[in-house]
Amino acid sequence: NKKVIASAPGKVTLFGEHAVVYGYPALVVSIDKRIYAIAEKRNDDVIKINARDLRVPGIVISYIGNEVVLETDYGLILPAIAYINKAIEVTSKYIGTKAGVNIEIRSEMPVGAGLGTSAAVAVSTIAAYAYVNEYELKKEEIANLGWQVEKEVQGIASPMDTSITAIGGFLKIKYIDKTVERTPIEVKEEIPLLIGYVERESRTKDMVAMVRKKIESYPEIYMKIMELIGNTVEKAESALLNNNLHELGSFMNLNHSLLDALGVSTRRLNELVYVARDAGAYGSKLTGAGGGGCVIALTPENQDVIETAMKLHGTLTFRTKLGTDGVKIE
Ligand code: MEV
Repeated sequence: NKKVIASAPGKVTLFGEHAVVYGYPALVVSIDKRIYAIAEKRNDDVIKINARDLRVPGIVISYIGNEVVLETDYGLILPAIAYINKAIEVTSKYIGTKAGVNIEIRSEMPVGAGLGTSAAVAVSTIAAYAYVNEYELKKEEIANLGWQVEKEVQGIASPMDTSITAIGGFLKIKYIDKTVERTPIEVKEEIPLLIGYVERESRTKDMVAMVRKKIESYPEIYMKIMELIGNTVEKAESALLNNNLHELGSFMNLNHSLLDALGVSTRRLNELVYVARDAGAYGSKLTGAGGGGCVIALTPENQDVIETAMKLHGTLTFRTKLGTDGVKIE
């Protein structure tokens, strides 16, 4: 039987995390690290999954029986299998087939670091399963099905990760309840970025809940911070469109300070952000929910020096190109 390979990229949030939960826009971008789903149609209705490639550097790597267990963005410890299984279930209902399939998942990224791997797993599986059954779904359809998978597996999920991994490029995302606005941003020049990863101390779910509590206690202060993050996102979008990297960097610094003011940064993240800036980054910030996870540094110059400085600081680093293709059949 013929094999189909679908792939979907990881992502970083450039601007606007946390404020996006309160209806402000965020800027997210795909990275050049992908998840691959290899599907082969079977002659029966059995679903066979092989996902041994889903690992985490240093932390959260565990197995239940033969299943790899991953820590999702929302912090629940769930078998990676759950995303793949649910993706097949949801797609099979959508396209109206119950055909069996062998699915193998490969990853070029650390899992559970906040790079959107679970969304990329869901989205690449959806595309591969549909295609092997002779359905070519639209990217928006895949994004919505992927969001459904994340919601059903995690209980709660933001549409950011599934949107960016399905559509790719640079996206401005805004969501209120069930409505998602996804606006592509045309970025012409290359934006060189370094990603540094430190162990996560807290889960996304807990960080989001902590912020909510602060907003409930002191709305007059914390909603102002959200509004300022929202304003920063709008200015950052212009800097991005004008390819003004110095300005973009200083908005990254501003966004980081506002996230720190919300209380979602950590000593390790702050240190790393300053190490990158001291070594020559145009700007740097934590990305994602905070409480550990990833830092991004804008590095059009001195990338080697900055990378070495971050490594000396005990960080796993990688370089990435931004704005890669969304989900596709290889
Ligand atoms: C986490 O990657 C992003 C947050 O804004 C949460 C969300 O959007 O649901 C912190």
